[in-house]
Amino acid sequence: MNAIHRLAAVISLASLLPLSALAADTGTVEVLHWWTSGGEAKAVETLKQQVEKDGFNWKDNAVAGGGGAAAMTVLKTRAISGNPPAAAQIKGPDIQEWGALGLLTNLDDVATANQWDALLPKKVAQIMKYDGHYVAVPVNIHRVNWLWINPEVFAKAGAKVPTTLDELFDAADKLKAAGFVPLAHGGQPWQDSTVFEDLALSILGPKGFKAAFVDLDEATLTGDKMVEVFKTLQKLGTYMDANRAGRDWNIAAAEVINGKAGMQVMGDWAKSEWTAAGKVAGKDYQCVPFPGTQGSFAYNIDSLAMFKLKEPNDIKAQNDLAKVALEPQFQSVFNQNKGSLPVRQDMDMSQFDACTQKSAVDFKEAEQGDGLQPSMAHNMATTLAVQGAIFDVVTNFLNDPKADPANAVKQLNSAIKSAK
Ligand code: GAL
Repeated sequence: MNAIHRLAAVISLASLLPLSALAADTGTVEVLHWWTSGGEAKAVETLKQQVEKDGFNWKDNAVAGGGGAAAMTVLKTRAISGNPPAAAQIKGPDIQEWGALGLLTNLDDVATANQWDALLPKKVAQIMKYDGHYVAVPVNIHRVNWLWINPEVFAKAGAKVPTTLDELFDAADKLKAAGFVPLAHGGQPWQDSTVFEDLALSILGPKGFKAAFVDLDEATLTGDKMVEVFKTLQKLGTYMDANRAGRDWNIAAAEVINGKAGMQVMGDWAKSEWTAAGKVAGKDYQCVPFPGTQGSFAYNIDSLAMFKLKEPNDIKAQNDLAKVALEPQFQSVFNQNKGSLPVRQDMDMSQFDACTQKSAVDFKEAEQGDGLQPSMAHNMATTLAVQGAIFDVVTNFLNDPKADPANAVKQLNSAIKSAK
């Protein structure tokens, strides 16, 4: 039998099989996300491998751009043209907006079979449901209020690890005097607002933070403490490198890793870069709560919302992805690479490094009182429209060293009002 005959035989055999048998196990799941840094790509690879091991195809739709603004634009275009991916990284209140459009699928069968209600913290489960039904699966819990420190650089500069804002500025002065970039930073709106929200958590405290970014309370948004947040942001800006415009967060992280800069204010996805560089938490680098936010935990939960699909095999692949995302093996390997806490509450934390272990303890502590708050800069606190309004005000302010903090709070309030 020559090659053509063999091929013809295969084709005619295939035509005898029912379609379902032929296509069994070949469903494809397309996943839209923005995990494109070196460390994050490693993390997402673990999800891909598991889905492939289960016999499905993985179609990677990675849209570069930290914080996900570019990914969201792509997602909207895809959805408008009636061709959404099987799964997309959609977070917080935005899940409700997509749910209301009627585009998300019901994952209750997978959730019930795998006991999601028992595995997930109540608050998290609520976020994943639209109209009482699971439409998304969470993969992790990131903490936003972290400060990342290169201890070797600190030692060279004679700087002390800061626990208060005053100490933060002391350390920054010492680093500057010793010729280091005190604060590595990328001038992108979401990064500017990450620093801004950490300052707000420090200065307003968790209750004030909630009043400002969840309740959008006018008195809090325009109050003296918010003016102080902007003033402090302006001062902190003077310790950032002037050429920061457009720099990606992982490039800023690399500056701390390589000893050019002393510290970075960033969520714990920054740890994915330290891990990928072979650095050890507590030894090669330090993670401390952003000064003044001890006891608080600004959370950022990555989740994959699932869209309605037509092809039965693709639906199988989609359900597999949903199931895998909460399995212990995946939760462990993915989160060790990603820098985050597992979202499952029954995991053995001894496999995790010192920073994630601390995060787990701090999460539990913050959960007891008011300390646990949703991150504004990472889509957990408001709609994306309100978040966009805040981003604009904060970035314009930080880019103008002469901007007036008292004026900024007024702009903040009116921008939020018109976006609501
Ligand atoms: C966050 C996301 C993280 C990380 C970060 C940087 O919004 O939740 O997983 O990707 O952006 O892009």
